[in-house]
Amino acid sequence: MSFNVPADAYARFMGQYAEPLARQFVELANVQSGQRALDVGCGPGALTAQLVERLGVDAVAAIDPSAPFVAAVRSRMPGVDVRSGVAEELPYPDDSFDRTLAQLVVHFMTDPVAGLREMARVTNPGGLVAACVWDHAGDSGPLATFWQAVLESDPGAHDESDLAGAREGHLAELCAAAGLAHIESSRLTVGVRFATFQDWWEPYTFGVGPAGAYVAKLDEPRRETLRGRCAQHLPAGPFEVIASAWAVRARV
Ligand SMILES: C[S@@+](CC[C@H](N)C(=O)[O-])C[C@H]1O[C@@H](n2cnc3c(N)ncnc32)[C@H](O)[C@@H]1O
Repeated sequence: MSFNVPADAYARFMGQYAEPLARQFVELANVQSGQRALDVGCGPGALTAQLVERLGVDAVAAIDPSAPFVAAVRSRMPGVDVRSGVAEELPYPDDSFDRTLAQLVVHFMTDPVAGLREMARVTNPGGLVAACVWDHAGDSGPLATFWQAVLESDPGAHDESDLAGAREGHLAELCAAAGLAHIESSRLTVGVRFATFQDWWEPYTFGVGPAGAYVAKLDEPRRETLRGRCAQHLPAGPFEVIASAWAVRARV
């Protein structure tokens, strides 16, 4: 998947949703001073920054397979233990963290159950594992308008609705399969304001994630057609996109 992109491109595309989501997600995971935490699939660091604010750099570790994202977190938050790697093979000893979090990552894991099992392994007994994924299967994910417009002209297109954790209840099923206990499900909702339609559209042309990869493979006329379809679904002037994610937290 296309996360080998500059951190700035991610920030303007998904980061604008990920940052307010991270503020809610650390609350859900009950992150508190004195704990040690791991951010799995940290991207350019929206959640890492929230963890550092609460716990300090020495108590936070982060890992991601994307080289530009790893470099961005290292330069943005010196002192954080940032590594290159995947959830399915975490390079930490058992029981290393009190909180192990994955924000918007489970749906990109090659093996989500193995990833969640690894997250549990590196978490202390009594600690918490937490994960969240946008509601791509419903109509309240941040990319819902985009994929709706795509499917109108390309009904065979592969949107993100069938990805792991993207439908209600699926994250809890995956956590149970990974051996986690006391699984609690919830829903987190954020609002992001856009001054113009162009501000909303432009980040889709940066090649980030499945949506950006879809736009990148269109020739110019088809890209313009898709842009026009999206414009029919959204106001020209200031508007807000409300986006929801499914979330779980579970005890180890
Ligand atoms: C949508 S981004 C989320 C980034 C960040 N957590 C945030 O909330 O902004 C998905 C991230 O998952 C990472 N990723 C993809 N496959 C992964 C895997 N198997 N294990 C860990 N991270 C993975 C990508 O490199 C990317 O940074």
